[in-house]
Amino acid sequence: MVGAGQLARMTHQAGIGLGLTLRVLAESPDDGAALVTPGVELGAPDDLGALMRFAKGCDVVTFDHEHVPAEHLRALEAAGVEVRPGSAAQLFAQDKLAQRRRLFELGLPVPAFAPVTSVADIERFGAEHGWPVALKAIRGGYDGRGVWMLDAPPDVLPSVPVYVEERVLLMHELAVQVARRPSGEMRAWPVVETVQEDGICVEVVAPAPRISPALSTEAARIGTRLAEQLDVTGLLAVELFEAPGGLVVNELAMRPHNSGHWSIDGAVTDQFEQHLRAVLDWPLGDPAPVVPVTVMANLLGGAHTELATTLPAALAAVPEARVHLYGKAPRPGRKLGHVTVLGDDVVEVRDRARLAVSILRGDD
Ligand SMILES: Nc1ncnc2c1ncn2[C@@H]1O[C@H](COP(=O)(O)OP(=O)(O)OP(=O)(O)O)[C@@H](O)[C@H]1O
Ligand SMILES: [Mg+2]
Repeated sequence: MVGAGQLARMTHQAGIGLGLTLRVLAESPDDGAALVTPGVELGAPDDLGALMRFAKGCDVVTFDHEHVPAEHLRALEAAGVEVRPGSAAQLFAQDKLAQRRRLFELGLPVPAFAPVTSVADIERFGAEHGWPVALKAIRGGYDGRGVWMLDAPPDVLPSVPVYVEERVLLMHELAVQVARRPSGEMRAWPVVETVQEDGICVEVVAPAPRISPALSTEAARIGTRLAEQLDVTGLLAVELFEAPGGLVVNELAMRPHNSGHWSIDGAVTDQFEQHLRAVLDWPLGDPAPVVPVTVMANLLGGAHTELATTLPAALAAVPEARVHLYGKAPRPGRKLGHVTVLGDDVVEVRDRARLAVSILRGDD
């Protein structure tokens, strides 16, 4: 796996039970996955030499992020490396404008959008579609970094390439995840609801508690259709907005995703194991939930997060909580781990997950 953050760390954990050895290309020996797997190679994801050395001897190369340049992905493929998902598919996870255009061509519901090369382009778009508008970095955005909600045209453009889209009046945010093998087999988890604060996912409820069966079928159909039409191998996560007029696709990721962390504890087969099975073209596992309600709450660092003391306190207060830490030094706002609680009642389960996270954070 190229990249050695928490996604690679949890993929390694899933691989152990299948007798797999995950090698990681890490940028630093302190990366979450580099701390726990013996197969660590150090190197940058945009260094072709490092990628080639890393890929030698791997059965399959897959990714915990979108940072490998497209030309390097193609060079690996030309050298005979099994790159999954392939370079053609990954383009649509790396470039948000190409993604929007492709989804639009496929007839899927997307917000109105336009390319931007000048402030005047934004002004025109706002005049036509109304303010505020969302300005988005075409590449490299995450956790809301690279998304700017604007009430009026900016004085200058951001220093990175951007495009503009309409601000959707969303009621809920949803996500659907699908696994697909090179041979075509697909499996989807139930649609989940995601809760974002300041552009960062803080909570996921699985299955989504307040959507109609019709909407949930529609979301699943969007997911499987995209996996097929973009020829995704491995995992595809589709972030969706529930808007007054129906579902709107926000964005795609072709890797395990924060919206699927609940499945480690809450589903028969979790997203990390399923990703490995899918990229290896092995039979896929059952994605069914094991309980009526699973809530996953992200642990973001607070001003007083001191895990040496807050972890035992959280374990004592919420013994049913499943705690997953990523091996990162606490820093305010940093994703340090997540907590999962299983049960029958959404409100109760959510309260317990929130309590565990608040104790872990060291909130007063
Ligand atoms: N067009 C929009 N209308 C309304 N809200 C939006 C729009 N685009 C983004 N948002 C809000 O901002 C959040 C982050 O946006 P987006 O998912 O595009 O960015 P990101 O930084 O790439 O996120 P991620 O960490 O999921 O990769 C969304 O989850 C949503 O809450
Ligand atoms: Mg997002």
